[in-house]
Amino acid sequence: MNKKPFYITTPIFYPNAELHMGHAFTVTVCDILARYYRMQGHEVHFLSGSDEHASKIVRVAEKEGKKPAEFIDGIVEAFKKLYSELDISYDQFIRTSDKEVHWPGAQKLWNELVARGDIYKKSYSGMYCVGHEAFITEKELVDGKCPDHGTVPELLEEENYFFALSKYTQQLRDLITSGEFSIEPASRRGEILSVLESPEGLQDVSFSRPASKNAWAIPVPNDPSQTMYVWCDALASYITAVGYGRDEATFKKWWPASYHVIGKDILRFHAAFWPAMLIAAGLGAPTKLPKILVHGMITSGGRKMSKTLGNVVRPMDLIQEYGKDALRYFIAREIPTYEDGDMTPELFKAAYNASLANGLGNLANRIIVMALNYGVDLAAQPTLTDILARPDFAWYSAAFEKESGPDIHGAAQGVWSRIAAADLRIQQSEPFKLYKTDPEAAKNIVSELLVELWTIALLLTPFMPSTAVEIQTAIKEKRKPTLFPRK
Ligand code: MSP
Repeated sequence: MNKKPFYITTPIFYPNAELHMGHAFTVTVCDILARYYRMQGHEVHFLSGSDEHASKIVRVAEKEGKKPAEFIDGIVEAFKKLYSELDISYDQFIRTSDKEVHWPGAQKLWNELVARGDIYKKSYSGMYCVGHEAFITEKELVDGKCPDHGTVPELLEEENYFFALSKYTQQLRDLITSGEFSIEPASRRGEILSVLESPEGLQDVSFSRPASKNAWAIPVPNDPSQTMYVWCDALASYITAVGYGRDEATFKKWWPASYHVIGKDILRFHAAFWPAMLIAAGLGAPTKLPKILVHGMITSGGRKMSKTLGNVVRPMDLIQEYGKDALRYFIAREIPTYEDGDMTPELFKAAYNASLANGLGNLANRIIVMALNYGVDLAAQPTLTDILARPDFAWYSAAFEKESGPDIHGAAQGVWSRIAAADLRIQQSEPFKLYKTDPEAAKNIVSELLVELWTIALLLTPFMPSTAVEIQTAIKEKRKPTLFPRK
């Protein structure tokens, strides 16, 4: 049976600084889903990338005394290094500065919006938050500052092209209410619906900037005085990456994306701007809209993790200290997929010791050592396909394929329940004591435990791929596994 191709995207990240744990969270969630769908036999395209035309990037580069391109290349390399250290199995990394892959499609999209009569020019003045790369309204300010960035917005007046977003308010509302355009979880759907249902509805949005102020961005077709403004450029990457404007057959194969995974701070762009643009460009016949999955924020000590607040946890530091799978574990199990989750070095260490050193690591060691000592071999080598076909494992796929959004946290919880159950079985049956009086009975128990450990390793594959392989290899090679030393 041919399974549907699975196309998943991370947001494209601003290369103004290294990625922190918040970003690593999004990317790892996508990776876990990509691995799950590959494991289930789907052809998968996993896209990530960098959003390179934002003015804040140029400012940071200048501060460091570097040319933007040189600065950005260095940061993008650091992104990719982190992906490789974290075993992120991305298929493509798109850079919006890529004139071959990205620009033709972004300009084609622009032309479609023009053809539809949805782009117009007007003079605009407003308060602009550089952190958000967006105009911000008076109502949104707290003490005259952007509540997310704590900075005073700049007053900007300029001639811009606008996208007629307001005219899509009603249509988007209908598509969301009918379930044809899906945003998960329900709380985020409600959040965007309340914007759509408010008396103001959606406002038209600025889609270009004067080229003089934004020279490095994508030129607006047929008007050299303007360049595209960040959101039209950035969102387009989801389609240009898979061929829009350059390779229609590939585009047709992958579009629409199965999931755009995002953080809640970019909800409006993905749940209003983007579907409206797709509909306007004739790409969004209702059933063709991608699903939007909105995760929560990683906080540190209860506050959103961000460079500005100075509470950033560096993923590389944790990987060096605890290993990549410890980080992947924390993201999958210790943080509820769709809610905010706190992460501090202390919390991380406690979770590591409890669930990895003592939990999984200890269990794997005990079982394998008993098997070696008593001469017990692996009695069966089920594959993941065998296991997932069994009704008693239906919970696993059910969690991953949940209609209301994949429940990665729930699937990981399920695996840890099995780890706890196996631990309990050792405690209660005490095979190491039983071996002295009834070696055959003890060996039977250990044999079952060994199959269970093998099964746990298989189930861990999307979450902790190298740990899964290490456990399986140790069992096959009849040696102790190298896992999680106590810290
Ligand atoms: N470039 C835009 C996205 C364009 S997508 C077409 C952008 N970039 S970003 O680098 O600022 O953020 C990228 C993603 O990281 C967003 O989904 C954002 O929600 C997420 N996170 C940033 N800080 C985060 C946390 N502290 N916790 C979880 N996710 C966080 O926005």
